[in-house]
Order: sequence, then structure tokens, then C-alpha cells
Amino acid sequence: MNEAIPQLDSFDEAALEDAFATLTKEVHEAATTEDAETFRLHWLGRKQGRLKLVSEAWLKSAPPEARKPLGIRFNQLKQQIEQTLEAPATVKAVSQGIDITLPGTLRAPGVPHPLLKTMHEIVAVFHHLGYSTNLGPQVETDFYNFEALNFPPNHPARDTQDTLVIAKQQSRPARDRLLMRTHTSPVQIRTMIDQAPPIRIVIPGKVHRNDAADATHSPIFHQVEGLCVDTNITFSDLKGTLDHAMKALFGSGVKTRFFPSFFPFTEPSADVQISCIFCNGKGCRKCKHSGWIELLGCGMVDPAVFAAVDEQRTAQGHQPAYDPKKITGFAFGMGVERIAMIQHGISDIGHFYSGDMRFLEQFA
Ligand code: DAH
Repeated sequence: MNEAIPQLDSFDEAALEDAFATLTKEVHEAATTEDAETFRLHWLGRKQGRLKLVSEAWLKSAPPEARKPLGIRFNQLKQQIEQTLEAPATVKAVSQGIDITLPGTLRAPGVPHPLLKTMHEIVAVFHHLGYSTNLGPQVETDFYNFEALNFPPNHPARDTQDTLVIAKQQSRPARDRLLMRTHTSPVQIRTMIDQAPPIRIVIPGKVHRNDAADATHSPIFHQVEGLCVDTNITFSDLKGTLDHAMKALFGSGVKTRFFPSFFPFTEPSADVQISCIFCNGKGCRKCKHSGWIELLGCGMVDPAVFAAVDEQRTAQGHQPAYDPKKITGFAFGMGVERIAMIQHGISDIGHFYSGDMRFLEQFA
């Protein structure tokens, strides 16, 4: 800032050309080393600005006929300085040691989260079979989550789904009380109330349970529900559909078997097991040496569910449409986390929610 004022011995054209070339060079150098504000003060400061000091010194010692060309040149220089400032990126970026001619920071494009990827895969398998998709609310009423699915109030089957309830619901009738849905099955009920058969629907979504988190449990997780209702739907249809879906998800070599089970809303009910994909059914640590992995629940829709649906349809002014003598159906529900963990050999469910890029980048 305090450079000496350059001396001008002569004011002829060549001398001026020379003197201003030196000043212009100085301006360029300053622009590469100073930030914008320092640069502005250095050159344009009202009292101590270099432009002002130099022009005063030179104008004072100039013969009268040199004043005009000097003035013109100072104005040009001033314009140059102002233009440099108007492109502050030039001054500042260069002053920070950034070469603005280099390519910028590349941001990697985002990819779907592994859980969403698996959820979409499951849904796509059923889309190819002609199913459509439905969604429902995560905050649900007791009626849709339990009662209509044949879990009566105080029935012990409710204990299998430890429920997170919404506060301050005591003044409401039991069936209207709000809770976080514990499964995607209530959307079966919502769909059937809105729609007469035939129905072929899959329902992906988030569910909540009051479970402690450990390697295989999380209080928030994801399910895909399925529902097929029509005339002449049999358990064979259920078996064929799910056997196809498991082969589509885990490879055509995978075998399925159906074990008797219990769910209040299906009768009969079954658990579906697939042959262990880690040991090809020979027995290993992953399948607890049984050769089989339990994967999902399913069954034939219980007539009590159809009855609850028709009661509600009537109450809402729709025609009843689910006479169990004419209409049958099957339903199934699977955990997305569990399927993704088996697909990728992941042993801790917590990885899905940790946001750890070292985990997530493996699915990019
Ligand atoms: N909703 C059950 C659960 O969360 C899973 C399930 C089982 C869904 C059987 C179904 C079914 O639709 O038929 O444990």
C-alpha cells in the first residue's frame, strides 16, 4: 500500500505509455494477491488510494499541455480498476489461491437407499403380475389396525404387535383411538371398503412398533403387504404367487415351503420359508443349520374380515360386495428390512438407518 510514488521525468507520449503500462501491471498483480476490499482501498481509497496519490503527484509536476493526456489515461486506468472490482470472483478467488479455470467440485449423483431399492423390487415383481399399489396413513385408528382385522379389543393376539399409541385419546370410542400402525395390513381394509372385487394390490410402507432396537429389530421398519380378492381364489394361487415372487427376488433356484401359522385376519395362515440362499439348504450359521429361512406371513382372508368390510361399506352407503360364499382371497405381508438383509448378507439392521456413507456407497 505504501509503495513509493513513481517519478515522471518526461511527459511525452512514449514516457506516458511506459508509465501507465507499469501502473496497469501493478493493478493486475494486486488483483491476484488482494481480496476485493483491500484491492478497492488500495487503488480507489479517497485519501490514500494509490490512483489518487499518483495522479496528484503527476498532475502537479506536469506541464499544462500534458494535463489532458494524463487525465484521459488516469480515467482509463480507473475504469479498468472498477471493472476488475465488478468481477469480484476474479479478485477474490485468485487471492484465495483458487484457480477458477479448474473444474469445480464434483458432487456424486444420489442413488436410492438400499431399503427403498428392495421395496421397489418387491413391488415391481407384483406389478408384473398385474397388481397395483396402494398407500395408507401411518397414524391409524384402532379400527383399521386391529378391530377390522379380527383382533378384538383385549384379544391376546394384540400382544404380538407392541403398539405405540397417540396420547390423549381416552375420550374417544375405542375403535377411533389413534395409534402408529403396527403393520401395513390396515390398508387391505381401506382398499376393500373403497373398492369391490376383483382386487390385486400391494401396499408398501412404514410401520412402527414399541420394540427395543437390536441387530434384527427397529421400532420403525418397512413392510410390503399384498392382497388378492376375487371369485375362486384358492390356497394354490397363494402358493404359486409367493413361490414365483421368492424366485424373482432371490433367484430361480430358491425353494419355498409353507408352515402352519396364526394371524387373526387369515384362515388358514402360513409362514413362508425359503431354502437358505447362503448354503443352498445344506445348513449354516445364517439359517441356524436348518437349511431354511423364514420370510413372511400369509393366508386366506378370514371371512370375519370380509364381514367387517361389508359392515363398513354399508355404513358408508356402498353395496356390500364381500360375501364369503362367493368371494375368497389371500393376503401376505413381508418385512422389507429382512428381505434386504438376506439379499445383501447384512447382519445388523442398524446399518440401514445410520447414514454411514461407507455402508450406503456399497449400493451406489
Ligand atoms: N401383518 C402381519 C405382521 O405384521 C404380516 C402378515 C401376515 C400380513 C399374514 C398378511 C398376512 O397380510 O396374511 O406381522
